[in-house]
Amino acid sequence: MSFKRLTDLDVAGKRVFIRADLNVPQDDAGNITDDSRIRASVPGIRDALARGAAVMVTSHLGRPTEGKWSEADSLAPIAKRLSEILGTPVPLVRDWVDGGAWHAALQPGTVVLLENCRFNTGEKKDDDVLARKMAHLCDVYVNDAFGTAHRAEATTHGIAKHAPAACAGPLMAAELEALGRALAHPARPVVAIVGGSKVSTKLTVLKTLAAKVDTLIVGGGIANTFILAAHGHVGKSLVEADLVGEAQSILDAFPGKVPIPVDAVCAKEFSATAAPMQKAIENVAPDDMILDIGPSSIAVLKMIVAKAGTIVWNGPIGVFEFDGFAAGTRALAEAIAASSAFSIAGGGDTVAAIHKFGVADRISYISTAGGAFLEFLEGRTLPAVAMLETRASG
Ligand code: 3PG
Ligand code: MG
Repeated sequence: MSFKRLTDLDVAGKRVFIRADLNVPQDDAGNITDDSRIRASVPGIRDALARGAAVMVTSHLGRPTEGKWSEADSLAPIAKRLSEILGTPVPLVRDWVDGGAWHAALQPGTVVLLENCRFNTGEKKDDDVLARKMAHLCDVYVNDAFGTAHRAEATTHGIAKHAPAACAGPLMAAELEALGRALAHPARPVVAIVGGSKVSTKLTVLKTLAAKVDTLIVGGGIANTFILAAHGHVGKSLVEADLVGEAQSILDAFPGKVPIPVDAVCAKEFSATAAPMQKAIENVAPDDMILDIGPSSIAVLKMIVAKAGTIVWNGPIGVFEFDGFAAGTRALAEAIAASSAFSIAGGGDTVAAIHKFGVADRISYISTAGGAFLEFLEGRTLPAVAMLETRASG
């Protein structure tokens, strides 16, 4: 992979436009519940500032309707948090696409945050007129938004085509390097854990990983569909009946690679206060919901993880948000932490679990990305990265 990096370029006195991924989770009151993505974006911003660039940063937040500003999707809370971390004012610019007074006033060594880029009409469709206007604002375009690298949008793709120079920021470069290393020449055995609620959203990654790895551990609702495919009982658990055939074909194509849970922790209702009941899979009743794996399945999973050379993790094993159903995900997190394997993890729920169980410092690499992480694992070309490569080769 070859693209220019921010560190390769002289940015003194230049106008630098950084596309970051500051799409952080917020509670109902708008408070940021996890600022990892903001903190991960700071080194690139600091570097540009320290070397005398006039810095503009933008990001999307959520999926707002284009063409109109809304307070719920405003980057105002992010500007505040970014300013606290940087220790410098970070003014937020509302209507920025056409430049103007704010742009003329932007000084080297200072930074502004440009309001949610998805407020701009044409952002998601990668509109070329919009992308040209954005490119016109800068001398150097920096893509540091690995979390959005799977989207070809005006700020992740089109602008890179038209900006005078285009390069990767340090977070983008580090993510690609760490994930590339885990996949290109991995220490074996390679164990992938894919959890979460639906097979349908992760079918391609399941198929791709099944072919590449030595063991594919499935968790959550995804595991339920595989249990059904293996003729087990799932009661009224979350399951995708129409994908049982797909799960079956993965099991048939890779015999022994996908261990199926042998026991579960069930409940009669989906609730934090529901009474947990341990059961062998064959004893799961029609009105049971599987919310976690049981102790025998945990033991199997621990043995597999202990022997791994490389571990890739996306998606929880059970409903770890509920204490009675957290044991499977906790055991997995702790087993990965204890292992000497090179471990990488990504995705919002996965990272939340890692923090909840206090193992963050013992995971080799935690990605800031969810969807982009999965697409990278699938071996897909990330359009934002491809554009940086095109620019570097031209
Ligand atoms: C994410 O949170 O996965 C990224 O920020 C991309 O967001 P999107 O799925 O709304 O494009
Ligand atoms: Mg998302």
